[in-house]
Amino acid sequence: MIDDIRAARDAALALVEDADSLESVSALDTQLLGKKGQLAVLKTQLGSLATVDEKRAAGQAVNEAVQVVSTALEHRLVELREAAVSLRVQAERLDLTEYVGKPTRGHAHLVTQAWERLEDVFIGLGFQVAEGPEVETDWHNFEALNMGEGHPARGEFDTLFVDCAPAGGEPGRTVLRTHTSPVQIRTMLTQEPPIYIVAPGRVFRRDTPDATHMPVFHQIEGLVIDRDITMADLAGTIEAFTKAFFGAGFTSRLRPSYFPFTEPSAEFDIQRPDGSWLELGGCGMVHPNVLAAGGLDPEEWSGFAFGFGIDRMAVMRHQVADIRDMYVNDIRFIEQF
Ligand code: PHE
Repeated sequence: MIDDIRAARDAALALVEDADSLESVSALDTQLLGKKGQLAVLKTQLGSLATVDEKRAAGQAVNEAVQVVSTALEHRLVELREAAVSLRVQAERLDLTEYVGKPTRGHAHLVTQAWERLEDVFIGLGFQVAEGPEVETDWHNFEALNMGEGHPARGEFDTLFVDCAPAGGEPGRTVLRTHTSPVQIRTMLTQEPPIYIVAPGRVFRRDTPDATHMPVFHQIEGLVIDRDITMADLAGTIEAFTKAFFGAGFTSRLRPSYFPFTEPSAEFDIQRPDGSWLELGGCGMVHPNVLAAGGLDPEEWSGFAFGFGIDRMAVMRHQVADIRDMYVNDIRFIEQF
């Protein structure tokens, strides 16, 4: 009997040893330690032994065998779980040793690079840098820019409204600024002319992202207010900027256009050395109503304004095919620049 018990135990241990999945361990648990298991069957036969001593010895042997097998099962379960975890860790592991010995240097975001270069060029032309809030009042974003309630041009801005109101703002009439032009108003209200500023910043429109659009993007605004400013000053400034930013081989032109806040208005294009034209932004002479909203007398002061997209400059410069690539922060993209 004792020999049978030992044989059953050893056979069970061998099976446990061979189990190679969590499922097979739990199947073995029932198979080896359940009611129909060999050890359980042997236990039912204890009664047939002749002496009390024999019964006690065999009973002890069966209990020990059950104990040993059940410990082995638990042990195997732990082993398999640990193996599964280390396999997963291995699979998810990042090989950072790849970078050892060749430290790489990070760099500013492509849009930041373009933003800073634009600032540098305009500072070189005598401009100062101004800024305004991204959460803006309806008044600064539209009304003061000659787009009163119900003005059709408002519809073109796909405006995002916010529930809260900033200090001084009316509840329910607060927007994420749709352009940097409200900085024109804020600057006129806080600075005495002459004014020569550029205002780079983040703007927002309710757009679905695609290869050429993002709901959050960047513009740079320019505003000049002085005495006797004419359209010729505007054209000359755009031309000077074009050469300073893009290079001597580039030139610019103005095309008639319409914006509520400038009159006359124009769109400006730049011509590449290969002769092709590229549309860059909007501009014009600051509308008298806008000067008045900024607290300036249109009889005394005149000026021009312009605005264009910064992200587009980065996309053009680096020939990025899909503007969305600039915002996912994939190291394989970033490292190319
Ligand atoms: N704010 C205009 C836009 O977002 C651009 C612009 C700025 C046009 C200044 C004229 C003058 O489209």
